[in-house]
Amino acid sequence: MKILAIDTSCDESCAAIIDTQKWKLLADVVHSHINSMKNFGGVVPEIASREHLKGLPLAVHEALDSAKLKVDSIDHFVVTNRPGLIGSLLVGLSFTKSLAFSLGKPFSTLNHIEAHLFSPLMATLDGKEPPPFPWIACVVSGGHTEIFHVESIFKYRWLGGTLDDAAGEAFDKVGKLLKLPYPAGPKIDRWVREAASEEHRTRFSFPRAKTEVHTLSFSGLKTAVALEVKKRDLSNADEILALAASAQEAILDALVEKLRQTQKLVGVQTLVLTGGVACNSRLREKLPEAHFPSPKHCTDNAAMVALLAGYYAKHNQLAPESWNTTAYPSLSTLEGK
Ligand SMILES: Nc1ncnc2c1ncn2[C@@H]1O[C@H](COP(=O)(O)OP(=O)(O)OP(=O)(O)O)[C@@H](O)[C@H]1O
Ligand SMILES: [Mg+2]
Repeated sequence: MKILAIDTSCDESCAAIIDTQKWKLLADVVHSHINSMKNFGGVVPEIASREHLKGLPLAVHEALDSAKLKVDSIDHFVVTNRPGLIGSLLVGLSFTKSLAFSLGKPFSTLNHIEAHLFSPLMATLDGKEPPPFPWIACVVSGGHTEIFHVESIFKYRWLGGTLDDAAGEAFDKVGKLLKLPYPAGPKIDRWVREAASEEHRTRFSFPRAKTEVHTLSFSGLKTAVALEVKKRDLSNADEILALAASAQEAILDALVEKLRQTQKLVGVQTLVLTGGVACNSRLREKLPEAHFPSPKHCTDNAAMVALLAGYYAKHNQLAPESWNTTAYPSLSTLEGK
């Protein structure tokens, strides 16, 4: 079976195709809206929705071209309809429904965070061994920082997550305070890796919030950085570097400590991190034993959605959905939340 997967949950128009018999990814296309957001220092929801109107048909065309397929050879269409920016999700859902309807083919919806959660199974598409179950898994992205106990595919329990900002949001908000371009996460990572010393990373001791088990909090860090920025000279690049490096250290230390605590409490060794912040090279250094998908599949993509759909199909659970299916902005529809 050939499945075409679409993801428009935030500011990337993504399309991918999986062949479930061959267990191969035939296409994996991401059209980012970053250039349209540069002047705003963050994602503007209405602009993202409008960009999907332009970017999504192009991404789908490109996916079909690179797979050398005609659209009528797709057997099933899937789309993420939760969680995310509601306008963006609605563009993807309407597009997918229309395409499936016009071709007389079935369509199904999937959860974007569940797709991030199982993205380490992408290794199986290259004939490689995925991380062995059970996992403690953390989806650490722009909108979420969620910790799960995963026993096997589809069998998982949400343990907890951030009480306020997501880790990626903390990176981006710190970056905004330091007048770095959006999204600041990758920029801070690269700059600190290339230019920062141990002294830069420890110059400011930003808070690592002490919260209940399986929970995190990053809003205090943002306030601490804002207070420090007021006292500092932001025309001094060395000072900005030290602020960025020390803030990164605080975000990652809090995350690493919490995940190690969860591993011990639950008694599970295998640690898995997914989502945009899982691209971070310093995080990968701090957790050498953990499993991470390739950076390309940590940030938003439709390959992880196609893969998840492939697993649902393998387990005879890719049920066609009704035409009145809609989209939801929050994660509460995920099992266990
Ligand atoms: N190398 C990096 N270091 C730190 N943060 C990073 C890095 N690369 C990306 N990020 C952060 O990851 C986030 C984007 O990740 P992703 O695309 O998974 O999130 P999202 O789709 O916006 O949110 P969600 O998946 O929760 O809906 C941004 O906040 C970005 O700054
Ligand atoms: Mg995402």
